[in-house]
Amino acid sequence: MKWVVTGANRGIGLELVQQLLARGEHVDAGVRSPDDASGLAQLAKRPAGAATLRIHRVDVSDDASVREFAKAIDGRPVDVLVNNAGIIGKMQSLEELDFDDMVQTYRVNALGALAVTRALLPNLRKGEARKVAHISTGMASISDNTSGGAYGYRMSKAALNIASKSIAVNYRGERIISVVLNPGWVQTEMGGSGAPTPVSESVTGLLRVIDGLTLERSGLFLDYRQGDVIPW
Ligand SMILES: NC(=O)c1ccc[n+]([C@@H]2O[C@H](COP(=O)([O-])OP(=O)(O)OC[C@H]3O[C@@H](n4cnc5c(N)ncnc54)[C@H](OP(=O)(O)O)[C@@H]3O)[C@@H](O)[C@H]2O)c1
Repeated sequence: MKWVVTGANRGIGLELVQQLLARGEHVDAGVRSPDDASGLAQLAKRPAGAATLRIHRVDVSDDASVREFAKAIDGRPVDVLVNNAGIIGKMQSLEELDFDDMVQTYRVNALGALAVTRALLPNLRKGEARKVAHISTGMASISDNTSGGAYGYRMSKAALNIASKSIAVNYRGERIISVVLNPGWVQTEMGGSGAPTPVSESVTGLLRVIDGLTLERSGLFLDYRQGDVIPW
């Protein structure tokens, strides 16, 4: 299958590429700075079997960069797009909020994913599986918000969640599946070393859930473990 993964330089994105290549998949990986993507460069040296890896430059917060990225993928079919690139922004109380930082967080986490999906729609239409998996967070669940705070991050990912639902509704007729996934609290630069979930475990779960997606499940917010539905 043909996959596109954004934010593939490190963390969940890099692990997604690693596990996909080990399965023999074809991956177009998007990173902000290909020259600094040493982890991906290592993977590119030894893809398993028929697997292929292409590395592209993309800053998802810049629509011109996203269009260049889509151009590089060059009309080829895409089976699964994983909108993984994300930032956490500043963690501040209401009194201290930095609105510019919040806007940038929204631009990356919500608009960035939307821009990539829009640019790759022609490729998804040529694909067989036609899946768009957005990496969201349990922190975007309004029902599960018991600790408050994280205004910029929670708001940006809640916006991503509703965008995913709109894509699911609007493109159902074309068999395009769109979901948001909670990857757990993961040991990456963003999650920190105190996170309980190893990145390999999160990604194994995410891939299992993505592999099992059907049109009936399109529009849902799903957990990485067993694909359980998370309340909005
Ligand atoms: N870790 C967790 O506990 C956790 C929990 C819930 C959700 N998530 C979500 O999972 C996804 C991956 O997170 P992670 O933990 O792997 O974080 P990470 O280690 O901080 O990696 C984030 C990746 O996103 C890339 N990125 C950031 N801004 C970008 C932009 N404007 N354009 C393109 N790429 C950009 C980064 O690129 P550079 O390497 O160039 O900086 C990096 O490769 C994020 O969407 C995050 O919100 C993570």
